[in-house]
This record gives sequence, C-alpha cells and structure tokens, in this order.
Amino acid sequence: MHYFLVAMAIKIEDATLRFLDKLYEIEKQCFEQEAFTKQQLAYLLTDYNTVGLIARVDTEIAGFIIARIDIENGSIFGHILTVNVAPAYRRRGIAQQLLAEIESMFRDKGVKECRLEVREDNIAGLNLYQKLGYRKAGKLMQYYGDVHGLYLQKNLV
Ligand SMILES: CC(C)(COP(=O)(O)OP(=O)(O)OC[C@H]1O[C@@H](n2cnc3c(N)ncnc32)[C@H](O)[C@@H]1OP(=O)(O)O)[C@@H](O)C(=O)NCCC(=O)NCCS
Repeated sequence: MHYFLVAMAIKIEDATLRFLDKLYEIEKQCFEQEAFTKQQLAYLLTDYNTVGLIARVDTEIAGFIIARIDIENGSIFGHILTVNVAPAYRRRGIAQQLLAEIESMFRDKGVKECRLEVREDNIAGLNLYQKLGYRKAGKLMQYYGDVHGLYLQKNLV
C-alpha cells in the first residue's frame, strides 16, 4: 500500500460577519466558560478598531484570530483578544501563522508592542505565546473566576 503525504495549504483571509456561525462553533470548541457569545463575536468582527483573520485549510475554516489596536497613556499597542484553532487542525502551525500575520499588520501600522491575557493554566496557549517571543509582564488575580490570568507582552520592533 502506498501513502501519499500532501502538504496542507493554509490560507489566511480577512474574517467577516459572513463567517459568524462557523467562528462561533470553533469558539465553543475552544473555550468552556470563557467563550465569547455570538453577539460579542459579531460586535468584535464589526468594531472599527479590530482586525480579524481566518485560517482556511482547503475550503474549511480551521481557526481564527481577533485583535484590536488599543491606546493607553497616549501610546498605542496591539491587543490579541482571541486565537482559536479547531481541535482537528491543531499542532500544524495555524495559530503561529495567524499571530505572525496579525503582528505584521500591526508593524505596518507603526504599532511597536503587542499584549494579551491568558489563563495561567492554559499550557498550549502559554507555550504558543512564549515560542513566539511573548514574555510575562504581570499576573491578573482571579481574572478568569478562580483561575489567575497572565498578562504577556512582546515588542514588535
Ligand atoms: C492554543 C491554540 C490556539 C494553539 O493552536 P495550534 O494551531 O495548535 O498551535 P501551533 O500548531 O501554531 O503551535 C505552536 C506552538 O504552540 C505550542 N503548543 C500548541 N499546542 C500545544 C499543546 N497542546 N501543548 C503544548 N504546547 C502547545 C507549541 O510550542 C507549538 O510549537 P510546536 O508544535 O513546534 O511544539 C489551540 O490549542 C487552541 O485553539 N486552544 C483553545 C483556545 C486557546 O486556548 N487559545 C489561546 C488563548 S486565547
């Protein structure tokens, strides 16, 4: 018997409201208590300051990312709000690719720093972000109910 390995082509495209149902389905597969509601996702996809991207494998939407440009004390920074990859498509570099694309969009807009929050017990998330150069910048006490959050930061320049 012969086995053929076919390289998986990942295409990154803009996320729009058109994909809301599919994105919500993936969101629910990724988070139990902290999943965004469909209304929250709809709001994020249409908010003027957010950027949303999907990763497509063949015709299927395999994952997505939503980020925003925020301002604090007069300086702007990129803020990753959610990164989700459907279970069947994990460990193939999709999250890395979505984050790389968002960071590159931020750099093009002159954003010099990227921040995000993650559950302290989210090993996959923490490994992913640390692999990409994010560093712990603080602890967010009981940010996720009983579980603490970690606040991570990366310089984009
Ligand atoms: C975290 C998540 C987005 C990773 O997506 P992914 O496409 O599988 O990640 P990648 O294939 O790009 O992995 C990149 C790196 O992240 C780390 N990583 C990813 N999944 C991991 C896991 N289950 N356990 C340990 N490390 C993991 C590894 O360092 C990996 O590099 P490697 O495969 O060379 O070892 C995915 O597991 C997910 O959607 N989880 C639920 C939602 C979530 O927790 N999002 C992040 C917090 S907002």
